[in-house]
Amino acid sequence: MRKTAQRAAARRNPAPAPAPLSVVILAAGEGKRMKSSLPKALQPLAGRPLLKHVIDTARSLEPAAIHVVYGHGGERVRAALDGEPVTWTLQAERRGTGHALLQAMPHIPDGHTVLVLYGDVPLLRRATLLELLAGAAGAAVGLLTMRSDDPAGYGRVVRARGGRVRRIVEEQDASRAELAIRECNTGVLSAPARLLRRWLSLVKPDNSQGEYYLTDVIQLAVRERVPVQPVVAARNIEVRGVNDKSQLSELEAAWRASRAHELMLAGVTLADPARVDVRGSVTHGADVFLDVNVVLEGRVVLGDGVRVGPGCVIRNSEIGAGTEVFAHCVIDQAVIGPEWNIGPFARFRPSSTLSKGVHIGNFVEVKNSRLGEGSKANHLAYLGDAQLGARVNIGAGTIVANYDGANKHRTTIEDDVHTGSNSVLVAPIVVGAGATIGAGSTVTRAVPAGRLTVARARQHTVEGWQRPVKQKK
Ligand code: UD1
Ligand code: CA
Repeated sequence: MRKTAQRAAARRNPAPAPAPLSVVILAAGEGKRMKSSLPKALQPLAGRPLLKHVIDTARSLEPAAIHVVYGHGGERVRAALDGEPVTWTLQAERRGTGHALLQAMPHIPDGHTVLVLYGDVPLLRRATLLELLAGAAGAAVGLLTMRSDDPAGYGRVVRARGGRVRRIVEEQDASRAELAIRECNTGVLSAPARLLRRWLSLVKPDNSQGEYYLTDVIQLAVRERVPVQPVVAARNIEVRGVNDKSQLSELEAAWRASRAHELMLAGVTLADPARVDVRGSVTHGADVFLDVNVVLEGRVVLGDGVRVGPGCVIRNSEIGAGTEVFAHCVIDQAVIGPEWNIGPFARFRPSSTLSKGVHIGNFVEVKNSRLGEGSKANHLAYLGDAQLGARVNIGAGTIVANYDGANKHRTTIEDDVHTGSNSVLVAPIVVGAGATIGAGSTVTRAVPAGRLTVARARQHTVEGWQRPVKQKK
């Protein structure tokens, strides 16, 4: 059929609009095996709570609603993820996955498709879920499964000879033959809300664990001849849950590896892909180089040719083209211009803006400041709440005293100023253009432009002075 004819046919027989989607995230598990005072849902993976990963993936499906079923001690989880566009439903008693889902069902209209996710399965991809939902479009049940040579702990997917799914059997209730099955239930499924509601009302806790098993709905669907569409996950890591810190580290490593892989395919050179952590989004130009143990957090923008030395942490910052960041710098909420040299051992606290060609050397801290073109602070300095013009030279040991114990004050340093070593500039203060401040000065008043200002005791030598000596007894 030609394209136009296809389109005409589609107009005559439009595909039914897909049912609105309600996502339910089960997260009432206690997470005891984490051995942590932090609830499992809030344990960070790549800097984001586990549950937040799942919520973000759910949001990417643009559902009508997202419900999170939380449990005992979950108030902290709710508080931490307060801003999320989800409906929170308490499961007061942990009585199984079927019981957990039932808590959210009163909020879901009959006409919706329900997609069940787990709050502790953070790496599931949108594409996999779309495949699952597409397969079950119409009135079928979608079931996400995985194949594993080590199926211990998982429910097994029992299929009929022809391959049709018949039921799921929990490990605790499985026969020897069933235990040998290598296809496992991931727990992720989709089904029409109207059917799910009825099936859940039929589930009984008549099993070895005395729990309401969500998995029992598969058998009920089969009995009613509602088709069950299985999708086998392409990669098991995607459907892996997190129960303890060791599993958490495995998923962190998987995350790290895939982010590093993406960066390399996009042309970034990594000294070692196993030693770069991306915990957010990175936008970058061509020929960027990241040395070992670089951590990028939040939104990071790296221009063409940026080089980042070993051990640097860069968070929510922009770094201009051609800038080199030497080893062990911490850069937080800074906008750094092109062709800079930074570090080693420099620290930028929020929020600073630096023009072109600036040099910030070792043991220099910059906070909430602006530096004009070509300005330098090469060693051991603190610039806080300061505005620097162009070509300023900050001597080693120069400190801006911006805080009086109660308030922060601003320092303005105009173009071409040179400050001598160990100067203290007590804010608020203005240093006029072209001024030079003598080494060791503590300046507390405006420094006039174009002249040398010295604010320290004058050196003098005491004639005839003798060093005391100990008296012999
Ligand atoms: C469940 C499945 C099993 C599957 C496995 C995958 C059932 C009966 N079994 O096992 O087939 O292979 O997941 O990991 O569904 N939860 C609640 N409330 C509860 C119980 C669980 O919210 O009362 C949540 C947990 O927080 C977790 C998820 O449901 O996110 C799964 O619970 P878990 O106990 O880990 O799974 P199993 O029931 O052992
Ligand atoms: Ca269980």
